[in-house]
Amino acid sequence: MMEGTVRTGVPRKLCKLFVVVTFISVGLCYLLATVSDYKSPLPFKPSSQKMPNRGLFGGHDKEVCDKKLNYMFVKVHKAGSTTTTCILQRFAYENDLTVALPMKGHANIGWPHFFKREDIIPSADGTFNVLVDHVVYHKELLHHILPADTVYFATLRHPLSHLKSVFNWYHLTTRFHGLDREHPLRSFLENPTKFEIPYLTKGRAFFSYTKNYMAFDLGFPIGLSDSKSAVDEFVSRLSKDIHLVLILEYYNESLVLLRRIMCWKLKDILYDLQPKNIRTYNKTSENFTRLVAMHRQWSNVDYQLYDYFNATLWDKIKQEGGDFHQEVDHFQKVLQSTATYCAEATQDKHEINSTFAKLTIPVSAWNDEFDIDPHFCFKLKMHRWDWDFVFHKKQKLPWNVSDAVRESIHSPGLRVLNEYLVREIFNIIK
Ligand SMILES: *[C@@H]1O[C@H](CO)[C@@H](O)[C@H](O)[C@H]1NC(C)=O
Ligand SMILES: *[C@@H]1O[C@H](CO)[C@@H](O)[C@H](O)[C@H]1NC(C)=O
Ligand SMILES: *[C@@H]1O[C@H](CO)[C@@H](O)[C@H](O)[C@H]1NC(C)=O
Ligand SMILES: *[C@@H]1O[C@H](CO)[C@@H](O)[C@H](O)[C@H]1NC(C)=O
Ligand SMILES: *[C@@H]1O[C@H](CO)[C@@H](O)[C@H](O)[C@H]1NC(C)=O
Ligand SMILES: *[C@@H]1O[C@H](CO)[C@@H](O)[C@H](O)[C@H]1NC(C)=O
Repeated sequence: MMEGTVRTGVPRKLCKLFVVVTFISVGLCYLLATVSDYKSPLPFKPSSQKMPNRGLFGGHDKEVCDKKLNYMFVKVHKAGSTTTTCILQRFAYENDLTVALPMKGHANIGWPHFFKREDIIPSADGTFNVLVDHVVYHKELLHHILPADTVYFATLRHPLSHLKSVFNWYHLTTRFHGLDREHPLRSFLENPTKFEIPYLTKGRAFFSYTKNYMAFDLGFPIGLSDSKSAVDEFVSRLSKDIHLVLILEYYNESLVLLRRIMCWKLKDILYDLQPKNIRTYNKTSENFTRLVAMHRQWSNVDYQLYDYFNATLWDKIKQEGGDFHQEVDHFQKVLQSTATYCAEATQDKHEINSTFAKLTIPVSAWNDEFDIDPHFCFKLKMHRWDWDFVFHKKQKLPWNVSDAVRESIHSPGLRVLNEYLVREIFNIIK
């Protein structure tokens, strides 16, 4: 309901083609230069070295950790969360986990309301390991369907950058009549109630896209925005419930932390560097400092959340000790080599080139040697809808599901891959 695709006109398509061609040529040169002599940027450490467990449930002293398999991601709207969702869906697939999927081909599980059981496609044994689609976060409801040792993640981004994204995605510049088209944000923030009376707009939405929208997804009762004690209590409660809040501005650091908390492998957190699901806000001439000051008044809970969880992210990073930043550097280099390799390996978007050589990422202090092949590249490119398609085909249903559920899993829904490719990669028989 809230998601859509970016529509581009012909000139933009041509432009895109040009960019893609240029990217690929540059990429190819880079590939030839780097892949052949890719070296681990760090002194070699034996691969048998176990990662210390900095996990949540094992304590700090345990030498070896087990990868965690139950997790829930609060997919905050317009906070870059589609990329994270795809990482978490890929991990779920690779580890044969059961994912709670939305009914009726939606992107939402109940959102913007609290979810009900009927919003989720039932699983064969009635249990789930993973939930990553849009919900309004509600701890007790989630505890009903997810195991007790579930790790909870969420994501936030700088509220002003979030507002820009919201303005673009929901076309607010045209929806809010009378905005200055050249400086829409400034014009809006100078007098927001002229354009929007939050929570009452046309009697439809009981939340606001511009005011504490991230807090809404995290379950804040938005009518209490002006109550300092309610906001303080909310932030403090979340900090106890949510094990890690990823911060988009420090995304790679956030993912390395996630990897460590979950005891996952470096390969598990790789992602496609081309962001998914974005529309760019291109009015850059506005004074950032001033806008933030005005926006902070309006979207106070989001700012309080962001400041708090950005600070805790950096506290956590400090506790990780010396090699954290080296790991982030290393991760970024691997991301880049992967992107370069994958651009080439998926040049033909309709078929897998079976003769294309693999990319081998050498052992480092944080990973064993592993390979990247064209199959993996296509998995990186998949959108959440493509993953849902795979889960629809692969996950077992209860023996007695209703017609509504059967209908739900027949929604086509592919966005990036074609059906032939998906069937080949995931071995799905018609
Ligand atoms: C900014 O975006 C608008 C449409 O959203 C487009 O018409 C315009 O050309 C863009 N400007 C630049 C400088 O990219
Ligand atoms: C931006 O606004 C701030 C606060 O209003 C002001 O101090 C600063 O000089 C402005 N910067 C520019 C580049 O106009
Ligand atoms: C996030 O927190 C760090 C550490 O306190 C700080 O240096 C940085 O400026 C903060 N980032 C933003 C965007 O507020
Ligand atoms: C994460 O790393 C990639 C690859 O090096 C880089 O392109 C991207 O800008 C980084 N993202 C952030 C938020 O630092
Ligand atoms: C497949 O990869 C090989 C080796 O890189 C290359 O020579 C060939 O042109 C590729 N085939 C297609 C159809 O892209
Ligand atoms: C399927 O059977 C279970 C018990 O075996 C029951 O609880 C559930 O309501 C049934 N579902 C439908 C759709 O009939």
